[in-house]
Amino acid sequence: MKPIQVALIGTGTVGGGLLRVLSRNREEITRRAGRDIVVARVGARDVAKARKLVGPDLPVDADLMAVVTDPAIEIVVELIGGVVDAKRLVLAAIAAGKHVVTANKALLALHGNEIFAAAQDRGVMVAFEGAVAGGIPIIKALREGLTANRVEWIAGIINGTSNFILSSMRDTGASFASALAEAQRLGYAEADPTFDIEGIDAAHKLSIMSAIAFGIPMQFERAYTEGISQLTADDIRYAEELGYRIKLLGISRRVESSEDGRASGIELRVHPTLIPAKRLLANVEGVMNAVLVKGDAVGPTLYYGAGAGAEPTASAVVADLVDVTRLHTADPEHRVPHLAFQPDSLSNTPILPIAEVRTAYYLRLRVADKPGVLADITRILADAGISIGAVLQKEPAEGTHATDIIMLTHGTLEKRVDAAIDRIESLASALSKVTRIRVEDLA
Ligand code: NDP
Ligand code: HSE
Repeated sequence: MKPIQVALIGTGTVGGGLLRVLSRNREEITRRAGRDIVVARVGARDVAKARKLVGPDLPVDADLMAVVTDPAIEIVVELIGGVVDAKRLVLAAIAAGKHVVTANKALLALHGNEIFAAAQDRGVMVAFEGAVAGGIPIIKALREGLTANRVEWIAGIINGTSNFILSSMRDTGASFASALAEAQRLGYAEADPTFDIEGIDAAHKLSIMSAIAFGIPMQFERAYTEGISQLTADDIRYAEELGYRIKLLGISRRVESSEDGRASGIELRVHPTLIPAKRLLANVEGVMNAVLVKGDAVGPTLYYGAGAGAEPTASAVVADLVDVTRLHTADPEHRVPHLAFQPDSLSNTPILPIAEVRTAYYLRLRVADKPGVLADITRILADAGISIGAVLQKEPAEGTHATDIIMLTHGTLEKRVDAAIDRIESLASALSKVTRIRVEDLA
């Protein structure tokens, strides 16, 4: 059969990995796909730089629009990243009847609803396995493998860069800045690493997974997002003393209306999280990602693998290329819907605001080392209906009268903790803002 013709736009970390994997495993990939998959054209901003990567034989063009609308091209692989140009090019490719493969989670989290609708109208596929958790086939698992289940919750380490930074700080004592620089050198970080360290990239991925798991539209703008940039070495150490590890987690949970007055809805949140050290997720280190998915029929399932990097991500992009090659002659009606659910049956279940989230908390307070301070704090927490699971009080540092009190609460509503923190911070003995980190058992 005639080889399928692919255009690649973007020849950076993942684009380079894609060309290497396609070339190295060409024979196996062809046997799986049923026909050869050939990159026939390349689009790059810097043609001379791209030429060094792709070699002398492939046409490289700076006019990306001409590349993605070339009548000879059947599949466009978008690996330029960013949102503005990527959206324009992907929509143009779809309008020209091309299937699209992308690893661009920012694009899908922000414009996926529009892009999937355009693809549906035109009868083409948009495949995006590489967009979430690098090489882990989590999209396929959620969309197809778990299709019998009512998903209850998802909790995942879904940003390789921030996990790499946290592991390096804990294991080697590396500084935040040097660990981030190493993650950038290894090709893990986004072009703007703020996306990694402030939880934005994880929220993009969580929005995509939640849409598939719960049958809702993509709603990145409603996700609660908090990154790792404010974590201190003290918090990492105190968490260890209490038997926990701190990980940046993306959590999405279905909430049925409950006895504590919460309406039904879906939690959608990314934040640093204390996890008991004995849990598998707590032991996922470096660039590795892991996603726990709890389905009502299957129970908890865990997916683990490299969450970033050239070839792990290329592994997912090639899987999409093979899928599209196998399916592109099929009747569009018979293909798996982009977001698992038929587009006309998406649910309007609301995303819950963070104030309505129920979880446990780690609270660290720097206070004057005076009698009665601990009693004041525990009274405020009791008034708010928050019960305390553990307390750790440190000796004042030499020559100071300031001490750290660390508390673990039992599960409670975030809005109650907000109110208690306001009162604690107004105590005369409070010497700093309260540090709050959410705690999840993940049992
Ligand atoms: P890189 O920055 O390494 O590569 C992007 C390439 O696209 C570069 O060659 C860049 O050119 C080019 N480019 C960027 N913007 C434009 C534009 N507007 N027009 C033309 N060319 C452009 O990124 P990655 O390969 O790391 O990432 C690509 C995509 O894959 C992103 O969406 C990213 O989020 C996603 N991804 C990345 C992973 C990773 O581990 N790196 C993992 C999973 C997904 P120049 O060199 O001139 O800037
Ligand atoms: N910057 C992302 C990460 C790339 O570190 O996880 C993979 O999506």
